[in-house]
Amino acid sequence: MYKGDAPLHRPRPQHVSTKMKSFLNVQDLGNLAEALAEAREIKQDRYKHVGLGRNKTALLVFFNNSLRTRLSTQKAAQNLGMNVIVLDVNAGAWKLETERGVIMDGDRSEHLLEAIPVMGSYCDVIGIRSFAGLTDRAYDYAETVYHQFVRYSGRPVFAMETATVHPLQAFADLITIEEHRRKPRPKVVLTWAPHPRALPQAVPNSFAQWMNAADVDFVITHPRGYELDPAFAGNAPVEYDQMKAFEGADFIYAKNWSCPGVTRPEDYGRILDDYHEMASWTVSARQMAVTDNARFMHCLPVRRGMIVTDEVIEAPTSLVIPEAANREISATVVLKRILEGM
Ligand code: CP
Repeated sequence: MYKGDAPLHRPRPQHVSTKMKSFLNVQDLGNLAEALAEAREIKQDRYKHVGLGRNKTALLVFFNNSLRTRLSTQKAAQNLGMNVIVLDVNAGAWKLETERGVIMDGDRSEHLLEAIPVMGSYCDVIGIRSFAGLTDRAYDYAETVYHQFVRYSGRPVFAMETATVHPLQAFADLITIEEHRRKPRPKVVLTWAPHPRALPQAVPNSFAQWMNAADVDFVITHPRGYELDPAFAGNAPVEYDQMKAFEGADFIYAKNWSCPGVTRPEDYGRILDDYHEMASWTVSARQMAVTDNARFMHCLPVRRGMIVTDEVIEAPTSLVIPEAANREISATVVLKRILEGM
């Protein structure tokens, strides 16, 4: 639904019916152990299902910048034999109006309500990257843009990082942890780290959701005020003392996020303290020393000297590159399952 809107009258296109119509949450993947086994199989032979996507087209729509998601998802679609169209909405397309009921006399020439079904008419599957605006919590957490694509494109839609989640990243993170675990139930710590700009909560939300579903000992650490939405954090323990949280950890997953507005909705999307004053939260050798030789993870892109020191990210225990490489694998599994449902 559009902000403050009455129901729309545009009929839903009825192009297709699929089993996996939407990929937003860990539950959309079904049995996690089976999905991980499938990921292992695809990693052994990533072209095994190259016939599956023959004469099918994936449209990847980017409202925001990307390096990894753009390349890995495109590669995944090609692994499955699909055609791929990439649309950068802000570079060459008409500027889109997303609100209904407005008089379009500004610089926005096309309404999303026409654009979405048109996009759906050229493809079989749609991936969406659309970040949170970080001004209206209800709008962002309703995943408004994503659900508009689900409703009006008539195609299966998958998240390539939306307002509140980044499931392709979290799936790749879990694959990476499975590959590098040295214990049956490793301790995995999600830590907040400083950043000069307000960032969405999509990556930590999804990471928490997926770790809660996995067989790991999961702990979250952040300064007070950055509590994640309970829909994602679940019952994961929160330790406000970062050094304590790191003790005995096997994996450290660093990420910045702005205030989720759980305890104070008026703070939604804000940076609560000057980042200079939060420098002690930057992941360095000091914190890593109390872990159990933990592997360092981050979704990238990462700001060195803010989130993590050069020393930690360049250490042999850093997994940031294999983690990014696994984005191809997670996307191949997801697209394969969508195609199988067609
Ligand atoms: N991790 C991630 O999604 O990277 P990009 O923003 O470059 O796609």
